[in-house]
Amino acid sequence: MIIEKIKRIQGEITVPGDKSISHRAVMLGSLSSGTTEITNFLNSADCLSTIACFQKMGIAVTRSSRPAPGGSPQMEETISVQGNGLHGLKNPGCILNAGNSGTTTRLMSGILAAQNFKTTITGDASIQTRPMGRVITPLTRMGADITSLGGRGCAPLEIQGRPLHAIHYTSPVASAQVKSAVLFAGLYADGETAVTEPYVSRNHTELMLSYFGVPVTATDTTAAIQGGGPLTAQRVIVPGDISSAAYFIAAGLILPNSEILIRNVGVNPTRDGILKVCKEMGGSIRLLNERTESGERTADILVKHSPLHGTDIGGSLIPALIDELPVIAVLACFADGQTIIGDAGELKVKECNRIDAMTANLKAMGADIIPTEDGMIINGGKALHGAVIDSHKDHRIAMSLSVAGLAADGSTDIRDAGCISISYPGFYDDLHRLCN
Ligand code: S3P
Repeated sequence: MIIEKIKRIQGEITVPGDKSISHRAVMLGSLSSGTTEITNFLNSADCLSTIACFQKMGIAVTRSSRPAPGGSPQMEETISVQGNGLHGLKNPGCILNAGNSGTTTRLMSGILAAQNFKTTITGDASIQTRPMGRVITPLTRMGADITSLGGRGCAPLEIQGRPLHAIHYTSPVASAQVKSAVLFAGLYADGETAVTEPYVSRNHTELMLSYFGVPVTATDTTAAIQGGGPLTAQRVIVPGDISSAAYFIAAGLILPNSEILIRNVGVNPTRDGILKVCKEMGGSIRLLNERTESGERTADILVKHSPLHGTDIGGSLIPALIDELPVIAVLACFADGQTIIGDAGELKVKECNRIDAMTANLKAMGADIIPTEDGMIINGGKALHGAVIDSHKDHRIAMSLSVAGLAADGSTDIRDAGCISISYPGFYDDLHRLCN
């Protein structure tokens, strides 16, 4: 994909549905009694992997689509999931394929650990290098029998379902995938299952479990549920994904004379770190029409071009913007002064090593950026120029550097840009529309 420098970005956009919420709606819909209808479901490769896994376990899923509101050329997907109840999954009789999706692999491990059959779950080359020990450890403590066939705690994972017991797990990492795997397993255990994290990670699982009728408590950095179910089917309206909105927020802030309205974006406080950081950097960001849909805070976001200055990002803010750090690194290149990103070692174990990928690619574009053990240091204000970009087949690297390319002199050539289909298949169509 070739990206040319543009003057400004302008107009209105509705970004596709939230990836984390779409996954969880399919999972909880499958474990409920009745039909769960999911509107604005994210029709991307990762979420389709989750659907395919549940279909293999006997869950019927139907899809319908209509033109999305807000003038986007994309279609709005509604899917219906015919749940079979907490104990209604069937032995798939084949290997489950999670594709590129860490959320599918880890969250489903929690569910599979409690079934009365044995399964194997795996995914693509990237998934087979990502750490699964972080879910194997707590699930094993609950009585699960999980073998890393890939060795070194990686997928493929062979999971022999077993009766599980409740635990209170103190996680060494702030990870919603770890927390959710344990809480999902806890649905099958008697009594209270709890997870305490160093900092609160995204809480979509807690909100959605409560929405489906499970008793949930959340106090400080601990989330707890009562096991046993039942879960009752619901209508879920998925807000737009703030991680997808982030690319347009960044482009709007750095390109002079830009103004952009992003409609219907999830602004859950455990996900809105990008908004806090942009405001802290001097960005003009306004939330309009704030409301709650299916338990999730939603708003329209108005972004105007602004002069930016550097900032420090770390601590409890990191889980609230972990997926936006690549595009925040791009923003920092266009800010006056230094930006320091710390406490973000988790970036090394995402779809690729995002510290290495962002520093190497932005350096190739002329940025002053230094990798650190747990983040990056960016000295902003150096003009960027086009370069050949290695996306490492990581959707967030491809989209973040596409935004950098819009503001860089000359042409930027994003290699393996097709990986955007993991979370935002229509990204380049939407970008093209707003650049005119
Ligand atoms: C996700 C949690 C985050 C995030 C990922 C999606 C989720 O991962 O990076 O893209 O849906 O729970 P971690 O839980 O590993 O931080």
